[in-house]
Amino acid sequence: MVKENILSQKNYLGTHQELGEWVKRIAEFCQPDQVHWCDGSEQEYQTLCEKLVEKGTFIRLNPEKWPNSFACFSDPSDVARVEDRTYICSRTKDDAGPTNNWMDPKEMKAVLEGLLKGSMRGRTMYVIPYCMGPVGSPYSRYGVELTDSEYVVTNMRIMTRMGSAALEHIEQHGDYVKCIHTVGAPLEPGQEDQKWPCNPTVKYIVHFPEDHSIVSYGSGYGGNALLGKKCFALRIASAMSRDQGWLAEHMLILGAESPEGEKSYVAAAFPSACGKTNFAMLIPPDSMGGWKITTVGDDIAWIFKGDDGRLHAINPESGYFGVAPGTNAKTNPNAMESIKGNSIFTNVGVTADGDIWWEGMTKTPPANLIDWKGQPWDPASGKPAAHPNARFTAPATQNPVLDPEWDNPSGVPITAFIFGGRRSTTVPLVYQSFNWSFGVYLAATMGSEMTAAAFGEIGKVRRDPFAMLPFAGYHMADYFNHWLQFGRDLPNPPRIFSVNWFRKDENGNFAWPGFGENMRVLKWIIQRAKGRSSAVESPIGWMPRYKDMDWTGLEFSQDDFTHIMSVDRELWKKEVLAHEELFAQLYDKLPKEFLFMRELLLSGLWRSPESWGMAAERI
Ligand code: OXD
Ligand code: MN
Repeated sequence: MVKENILSQKNYLGTHQELGEWVKRIAEFCQPDQVHWCDGSEQEYQTLCEKLVEKGTFIRLNPEKWPNSFACFSDPSDVARVEDRTYICSRTKDDAGPTNNWMDPKEMKAVLEGLLKGSMRGRTMYVIPYCMGPVGSPYSRYGVELTDSEYVVTNMRIMTRMGSAALEHIEQHGDYVKCIHTVGAPLEPGQEDQKWPCNPTVKYIVHFPEDHSIVSYGSGYGGNALLGKKCFALRIASAMSRDQGWLAEHMLILGAESPEGEKSYVAAAFPSACGKTNFAMLIPPDSMGGWKITTVGDDIAWIFKGDDGRLHAINPESGYFGVAPGTNAKTNPNAMESIKGNSIFTNVGVTADGDIWWEGMTKTPPANLIDWKGQPWDPASGKPAAHPNARFTAPATQNPVLDPEWDNPSGVPITAFIFGGRRSTTVPLVYQSFNWSFGVYLAATMGSEMTAAAFGEIGKVRRDPFAMLPFAGYHMADYFNHWLQFGRDLPNPPRIFSVNWFRKDENGNFAWPGFGENMRVLKWIIQRAKGRSSAVESPIGWMPRYKDMDWTGLEFSQDDFTHIMSVDRELWKKEVLAHEELFAQLYDKLPKEFLFMRELLLSGLWRSPESWGMAAERI
């Protein structure tokens, strides 16, 4: 029997005193040299950045090119989220489900206690009170992160509403998610610090959904350490939202204004590395007559049932933690504007005169670049100057197309949900699910071809339900059930669509131009969701015909369209049968509707080819 330990104390009592006692208890246990309560002020930010410059962690960039901005290199062992070290420690293994790592919470707390004891020696423990969402919104939730990393504090200040206002709210209302983070690298007296302290061998990213608490040990990077993001806003929040009747989703939110001035909002889920930030900041082609896209969020959406019967979404974050490589003035000019100043760049290439560069930023790299490992970069080496997961951290308020309602405490009303993966074959450019339940099935079975060997064979389809596989804080099949249930009493639920920007032609080239041209698909989606655009029925859902889409200013022929919209019967039979693999894994809790829906899809695909071939022809 494991004894009750420090991490098992009662959660919150709803008073400042409780917060103070918790901070004191953790400080006594982790033994930092000092404790600093963050107020979130500009002055505090500057002092911390200066401290990081002195330590050699931050390189101050050329103020003319990149004002008030910094670059840093992480330890080569600490460059990305560590999914195999990420745990959902719910009371039972069954609650976490087969797609999450699980350990008994009492055992895990004992392991973590062993690691945390004295873990902050020689460092400062920062207390970061923060709010996910606009402060005071009924849809927002609060957290307090204790961390021994200045890098984390500076990034959290950009990514969340952090400091005094959040603390005041927590003091008044009491409810907050407890987050403990340490780089796991205590310093002995006189020991010199690393530029990027972390624990090169031991890492744990642990969630306790029943306690609403998070402990992260050993990593200083991104989603492992900025606990407001994936850990709170997705894993803990998904469990909270199941219990409280809302949705916490890995979705961007964008606003689309028609040339006539009608505004609509959509939320879209894509797995990591499918261009979410680009879609959230899309620039429509001029030839489309004046459509405008604005960004509410680029990564996470919290979605609630509003009093008006519609779904309202907020972006819980206040900054962008975007992948730098591939971002440039052509692929995403709005992102380039967003990072022009007041930003932090992690694992990019740096020049001696304080400029930065990453693969794809410009055609020609600047001379004498230092790579992300801090070494002079040889362009002929075949090695990248920036790590492929190099990131920028930039305030949302610098985005030139930030939606005016992005900070609205009531959120924005959602008209449509879009789900997309990276599929070179099989999945057409766009289709609409028959109804909410089929939409949930569509999202549950979505997949993406792997682009990094980290997850398995490159090119193989990895099922990533709702783009939430690494982020669901409870059993994935319970999550499907929650979505089904959530839609049941919605009077006019948002319509659900699938898109695929990545279909390839016979020669292996992308068959769709993507980027700004995605506006053509989005226009059809919005009009369709509002019942203003027609479509034909196919075995997998409703599809636009060539004439249903706006092609003004783009050369894309009827033949090109037929090709990119084609539903190959044999490939789809394989696709639908492949869903079985996911279903088998989740069988004990799988919504039984899914089995019937799979059968319906199959019977549609088996139907005489002439009958749906005709539909295809009409496309
Ligand atoms: C992200 C991710 O960093 O999804 O947003 O991995
Ligand atoms: Mn993401």
